[in-house]
Amino acid sequence: MCGIVGYVGVRDALPVILDGLQRLEYRGYDSVGVAVFAGDTIHVRRNAGKLANLRERVKTDPISGGIGIGHTRWATHGAPVERNAHPHLSMNGEFVVVHNGIVENYLELREELTAEGVVFRSDTDTEVIVQLIEKFASDGAHGDVAEATRLAVQHLRGAHAIVVMSKRQPDRLIAVRIGNAGGIAIGTGEHEHFVASDIPAILDYTHSMIFLESRQMAIVRQDGFEIQTLGGQQVHAQAHTIPYDPVSAAKGEYKHFMQKEIFEQARSITDTIGGRVDFEGNQVVLPSLNLTAEQAQQLQRIVTVACGTSYFSGLIGKFYIEQLARLNVEVDYGSEYRYRDPILDDTTAVLAITQSGETVDTLAAMEEAREKGAIVWSIVNAVGSQAMRVADGHIAMNAGPEIGVASTKAFTTSVVDQYLLALYLGQLRGTLSPDAIKSHTQTLARLPDLVGRTLEIERAIHELAHQVYAYTNFLYLGRGINYPAALEGALKLKEISYIHAEGYPAGEMKHGPIALIDEHMPVVTIALKDNVYDKMLSQIEQAKARDAIVIALATEGDTVIQTKADHVIYLPEASALVNPVLSVIALQLLAYYVAVRRGADVDQPRNLAKSVTVE
Ligand code: AGP
Repeated sequence: MCGIVGYVGVRDALPVILDGLQRLEYRGYDSVGVAVFAGDTIHVRRNAGKLANLRERVKTDPISGGIGIGHTRWATHGAPVERNAHPHLSMNGEFVVVHNGIVENYLELREELTAEGVVFRSDTDTEVIVQLIEKFASDGAHGDVAEATRLAVQHLRGAHAIVVMSKRQPDRLIAVRIGNAGGIAIGTGEHEHFVASDIPAILDYTHSMIFLESRQMAIVRQDGFEIQTLGGQQVHAQAHTIPYDPVSAAKGEYKHFMQKEIFEQARSITDTIGGRVDFEGNQVVLPSLNLTAEQAQQLQRIVTVACGTSYFSGLIGKFYIEQLARLNVEVDYGSEYRYRDPILDDTTAVLAITQSGETVDTLAAMEEAREKGAIVWSIVNAVGSQAMRVADGHIAMNAGPEIGVASTKAFTTSVVDQYLLALYLGQLRGTLSPDAIKSHTQTLARLPDLVGRTLEIERAIHELAHQVYAYTNFLYLGRGINYPAALEGALKLKEISYIHAEGYPAGEMKHGPIALIDEHMPVVTIALKDNVYDKMLSQIEQAKARDAIVIALATEGDTVIQTKADHVIYLPEASALVNPVLSVIALQLLAYYVAVRRGADVDQPRNLAKSVTVE
């Protein structure tokens, strides 16, 4: 949540920071601001709303200098108005701070500082950080910014990513990471260095990056940087080369990132499977999981932890792992897991699924698992993210940058990753015959083509969206492996179109939600040809008998369903195990075109952010 960018070097800092913020806007877009040191002063420009407003403002009120910081905000404390926008200046204007996270004890610190004569100008928790730094700069740190920052952060409770600039030492930025409030990447270039909360912000300039771990501080200058622990010990950090191509993070011919990302799914699934299936040797290879056959055989259980869309993906993965590797799987919300004192040991693998690799609740569940001695794995999209780094083993989604706040291709690639994981575990545990492995890898090999054919329904979905966009409540029903697909379809619709939508197991409809059904309620049913097809038809009858408007996702060639449902969207015939991939893609398209028809901000829906780094 919130995006941070910093620059020090030979270029003009402002355009670098604005470009970086543009790429981070998906992390929050309530307000935006920059601070640049020029002459002998820190100049701040900030405003409520999006970056476009700030770009206009600096055209008429520019600032030019070689060092600066910027921030795009997802509001936690204080309304999204200009005075609460970051960067925040200290009372005497000597220090300026951008921040990601929550200062849990900010009220108490604010009271103490106010009693000492400090005058606050915002309603934010962040402002206490900069006021504390200014206080310690004169009182204990002898003007040294890094030292003042180190002293100040010791008083903060909570998790934080902070970048500080000061006119006392205007050649450096100080970056601090405490806990999991979002990452801090330091990018290195020739006579220039970058600081960012997320990789895409600086990928146009450098692919060489260092990531701060918790309780580390970086002192970043034009010609170098040093990393220390908050206890003052020097750290030798390893540089990572990040492979993303910034061009793939551009919208191209598409109207929205979400649309582009929906249409990239045949490609991204191909990349996910690529290199992991040895078709000649008839086996799945997942070296990055760091798992021996002996460990695999000793495993008793998998616990999947995730949030939002990634959680629904985990519900589908449960079907794969239980069926193919004969291992019991529990799926839990990251935000709930650590609060129930879970029972774990080294015969359990905890699998975190996270697109961003920075979701604080998922990271906390991973920490809990680590402390209790479980094996910790992650399925992650963001290369180099915390969830990738702290796991014993990982599987990359290989989806490429996902910019739209509503997750699409990360969902389908993480589902495919779990299919691969289940096959790999089945192989190592001896629960799958060579024929079974062959049949499943062929199912995977055919999937990109099926996804391509599914995307051809775009026109039909577009027309359907125009007929149903004005309804205010939707019910999504699925059964078995398609129940999580119904949950994901409903989440997509509510996220981007602000229509209330519920996902439900179809068999549960009669135990309550049926009371809601009338002629104003579209009921989206996933009624593909599988082992619960007949049951789904009965549920459609029950909904129709209450005058619902039934939209059915059906398998090509199914003519019976046309006599039951009001609208039928046909998907290509596929193995039941990959049906949820195809049905979710259809539901992504439905949500997308409904939202576009309603004029909603598809890529940056209100109140949401791409990386949720606060609890
Ligand atoms: C998906 O459309 C959402 N924006 C959200 O539910 C997301 O999936 C969730 O916040 C988890 O994010 P992660 O995968 O980056 O951990």
